[in-house]
Amino acid sequence: MDSLLDFSNKTAIITGAGTGFGRLLAQSLNNRGCSLVLTDINEDALNATKELLDSKVGIKTMLADVSKESSSEEAVKLAVSSFGKLDMAVNNAGIAHTQVPTHELTEAIFDKQFDVNVKGVAFGMKYQIPAMLANKKGHILNVSSLAGLGGAPKGGAYVAAKHAVAGLTKTAAVEYARYGVQVNAICPFFSPTNIMNIDGLLSDDDRAMLARGTPMKRLGDPQEMVNVMTLLLSPGNSYMNGQMIAVDGGVTAW
Ligand SMILES: NC(=O)c1ccc[n+]([C@@H]2O[C@H](COP(=O)([O-])OP(=O)(O)OC[C@H]3O[C@@H](n4cnc5c(N)ncnc54)[C@H](O)[C@@H]3O)[C@@H](O)[C@H]2O)c1
Repeated sequence: MDSLLDFSNKTAIITGAGTGFGRLLAQSLNNRGCSLVLTDINEDALNATKELLDSKVGIKTMLADVSKESSSEEAVKLAVSSFGKLDMAVNNAGIAHTQVPTHELTEAIFDKQFDVNVKGVAFGMKYQIPAMLANKKGHILNVSSLAGLGGAPKGGAYVAAKHAVAGLTKTAAVEYARYGVQVNAICPFFSPTNIMNIDGLLSDDDRAMLARGTPMKRLGDPQEMVNVMTLLLSPGNSYMNGQMIAVDGGVTAW
């Protein structure tokens, strides 16, 4: 295997590994020999992901709600007790919200967005970083969104939460760079997974309209996002730090 893509003897946590990007990333890293701690709030989905993986490579699954601080601590403990160290963490679990304009946003929508999409990342890093410092090396990849780089009509609370991920990513990147820990974020454009199954993003017409507004005239494929996630986490990516990487077919180039 090309050493730039060799993840053997590495250990990673992936949150939200039950479906979508998390599941595909689990497959990508498992194929490349990486031991994994996979967490999700959906036990059936998590078990279905596990079924897809090569069981000769280390795999631990854990039912976890990333909005609860204790779940982040438990996931790191599980990684270290099972595999001896933590090399990488992907804070990927996330949720969307009903499409509403800013003047209709509710406190409940905001609370849920910040509980999962912001606290999940913040408390994830809180426990992942010390484990990496113990090893003087580590890479955290947070999953933000193109909505973490700009506005998205009717997605105000999601946009705010994903911008918060940008702030957390850049702050931690600067705090821990000198100790060997890199922190970056990926910012995907729309890419059909379960998170897009909400009114306004669900129908073929909705998606065709979104695609028309892009330079490539198409949405992303989830595997394309995960290919970039794999590259960002790979041993060859040793100097990128604090970056918000758009994977958007050129949307932000306009
Ligand atoms: N698909 C897209 O178009 C897109 C675009 C930009 C960013 N993202 C981001 O990518 C990440 C992954 O989403 P996806 O597209 O794979 O969608 P998805 O819905 O398929 O996956 C999200 C996973 O997170 C899990 N999850 C939800 N709440 C959780 C919680 N509280 N604790 C633990 N797990 C929880 C879900 O069960 C699910 O398995 C999210 O952070 C999302 O915001 C997705």
